[in-house]
Amino acid sequence: MAFSLKNFLKRHSANPVTRRKAWNKYFERRLERHGLHIYKGHLNWALSPELAALHERWGDTPGIPADRCCFLYNLARQVAARGIPGDTAECGVRFGKSSFFIMSGLGDPVRPHHVFDSFSGLSEAGEADVAMDGVKSWSAGDIAADERVCREKLAAFEQCNFYRGWIPERFPEIEDRRFALVHIDVDLLEPTRDALEFFWPRLEAGGVIVSDDYGFATCPGVTRAFDEFFAERPEKPLPIPTGQVLVWKDRPGA
Ligand SMILES: C[S@@+](CC[C@H](N)C(=O)[O-])C[C@H]1O[C@@H](n2cnc3c(N)ncnc32)[C@H](O)[C@@H]1O
Repeated sequence: MAFSLKNFLKRHSANPVTRRKAWNKYFERRLERHGLHIYKGHLNWALSPELAALHERWGDTPGIPADRCCFLYNLARQVAARGIPGDTAECGVRFGKSSFFIMSGLGDPVRPHHVFDSFSGLSEAGEADVAMDGVKSWSAGDIAADERVCREKLAAFEQCNFYRGWIPERFPEIEDRRFALVHIDVDLLEPTRDALEFFWPRLEAGGVIVSDDYGFATCPGVTRAFDEFFAERPEKPLPIPTGQVLVWKDRPGA
């Protein structure tokens, strides 16, 4: 890229808005050459004080990135605004970041939220989880998290119930519950399929299942689990550019 004094000065301008825009443009152009892209700096969600305050509260404990947190937060707000009854749940909680944004979006301290995790990392990957050439596939035990940290990070949410163990072993403990929103984030085919088989029939009409990983080349098993599960059902997975996917359950007559 040819050196431009005008752009250089903008990138080092004292005005933070001008500076932010100039750096955004600079990286955008450089990354385009490699088939990569970054979000526009002027996107409302990226500047939202509401989300910034939640990220501040969360701190720097690892977890899913800001765009996916934003999506879960707004989805939870939708579910609350539409008055969908039922509990909420998450499979694959790690340190709790996605549950933190879901429960913050719901803003309902009496709606039970159930979280399932081995806290020993991923289970064994199968054939269907082997990623395309050149992309690392997962190994058992990857992404292990300390349950105590997760409980501390979610301590403000008294409605949160923890189920340590391999999915689906502890699902029977909530088999009589109904659900409004379920988040799946377990990276692999088998636990994703187990979660769909358990939660979909228990999802209220108008409720939603959302998953991470569906659009990731590193998680082909998740794509397959969703595509196979919904192949013969009227509802279909809606992939979104963050790599997440969602499926709303139809309301009869809607
Ligand atoms: C990518 S992390 C989840 C990230 C999390 N949602 C967040 O907000 O940061 C995947 C999690 O799934 C859990 N996991 C994967 N396979 C599992 C299984 N078969 N049973 C229970 N937990 C599992 C792992 O322990 C890990 O914490």
